[in-house]
Amino acid sequence: MRFAPVVLAGALLLAGCGKAEQAETPTDVATTTEPAPTVAPTAAMGEQVFKRCVACHTITKDGANGIGPNLHGVVGRAVASHAGFSYSSALQAKGGNWDAPHLDHFLESPMKYAPGTRMAFAGVIDAADRKALILYLESQSK
Ligand code: HEC
Repeated sequence: MRFAPVVLAGALLLAGCGKAEQAETPTDVATTTEPAPTVAPTAAMGEQVFKRCVACHTITKDGANGIGPNLHGVVGRAVASHAGFSYSSALQAKGGNWDAPHLDHFLESPMKYAPGTRMAFAGVIDAADRKALILYLESQSK
């Protein structure tokens, strides 16, 4: 079996190529496993992401509760505390404040963060989108 090592090397090479193709840009492969975001998330980008929320949420000061509670100044606010909104017991049981890490977990997968939540929303999968969204939520507090 003189050829075996050669064949094996070839297979490894092919496997290596397959990995390189999965990366967003070939130049990233050597330095990082995840492709770096091209632009840093901003509140303005978050405003675009928030379009996924407006069916159920207002964010203006003294805005009405809809299917979900008004989100004005939600960053730093106690969880499940907005006046006049009837929260699920799942969210009420959470306690604490909506700081950025908690919002990030909740928005990634509301049902995983608070099983039984009435927020019927699959989640914002993209981490950069969530970061932008939280910056936007933070900016809507005055
Ligand atoms: C289908 C309607 C719906 C959509 C879409 C939706 N939400 Fe909600 N949201 C709710 C409901 C209902 C609640 C209350 C959940 C509960 O009581 O369990 C809630 C709760 C919340 C809370 C907790 C507020 C508090 O006072 O504790 C935050 C924060 C929030 N939503 C953010 C968002 C964001 C950001 C988006 C968009 C990415 C979004 N939601 C999309 C319905 C929705």
